[in-house]
Amino acid sequence: MSQAVIMDREADGKDSNAQAKREAGFTGVQRTLLATLVFRALDNISDRPLLGDAFASQTLSRIDGGDELLATAKGSFADRVSGLLPAMRAKLFDSWTADFCANHQGATILHLGCGLDARSLRVRWQGEDRLWVDLDVPEVAEVRKQVMEPPETEDGAEYRIEASSVTEGDWLAKIPPSRPVLVVMEGLLVYLAEEDVYNLLGAILQHFQQGGEIVLDATGTFLARCFEAASSRFDEAIPMRFPLDDAQILSTKLKGLKLETILYTPDLDGFSRLPFGMRSMFKLGQWAGVSGKFGSFVRYSF
Ligand SMILES: C[S@@+](CC[C@H](N)C(=O)[O-])C[C@H]1O[C@@H](n2cnc3c(N)ncnc32)[C@H](O)[C@@H]1O
Repeated sequence: MSQAVIMDREADGKDSNAQAKREAGFTGVQRTLLATLVFRALDNISDRPLLGDAFASQTLSRIDGGDELLATAKGSFADRVSGLLPAMRAKLFDSWTADFCANHQGATILHLGCGLDARSLRVRWQGEDRLWVDLDVPEVAEVRKQVMEPPETEDGAEYRIEASSVTEGDWLAKIPPSRPVLVVMEGLLVYLAEEDVYNLLGAILQHFQQGGEIVLDATGTFLARCFEAASSRFDEAIPMRFPLDDAQILSTKLKGLKLETILYTPDLDGFSRLPFGMRSMFKLGQWAGVSGKFGSFVRYSF
């Protein structure tokens, strides 16, 4: 679906499915958020949900064409082979987010390239001096405002949506520098140019005086080539600009960034539920010492 048509929930001033529709164009990399959303929704409606993200189902149902996307994906080859992977990754990042919140009283959670993911609704993060920022490019942020409820803030917590590219604008200057920060980049890094990755991470390291953590997934070269080949079958190929086999490189190149945890797919909750062939491929990669080519899930501190 190159165009997501969303229900105009503001028409008539109320939220109803029987309302005028508004089109919001998702192009290029923005379309990738639909895939992760669909697979989280499929996990949610499965017999044995791993993540159990009811918000994914709700959000998808508010996108015109969302039900068709779900129906097409259900039982497809991608669903059977790798459909659980987005839920596995989201579950890990949710747990890293919850851990960070448990260990820091006042804090900012910066969710970059948030897409239509409901982490701010799934994880308990609220409290005094807590700020959550969901950021994505303006086209996506606009759709997000239309189809997702913001979390109800309590206990002095604040929630914001920032409509900006991570590589442009003054969004970072608007975030208080004086609190510890958790930066979550799920499914984002591989789409950025190498120079932008280093500029972004460097600016984050410099901005937050109290330090914090950065969690991200590094898409390895093997997986990046598979994604690129798969996307080239559609209208426009989505370039994987920053495949990364060795996540240690970021901490080597960026002073002050320390790699704390690195996990691979076989380490994730839900791995045993993947089909035998898929598990064998990841295990073989591990045995051959090339797990990074498939991708890794990384937690840094600074
Ligand atoms: C694979 S989706 C992941 C979305 C979400 N994190 C999830 O897991 O469902 C990639 C997201 O990165 C966003 N993105 C890509 N380049 C970006 C940029 N330069 N600035 C902000 N967001 C960007 C896209 O719009 C999209 O929402």
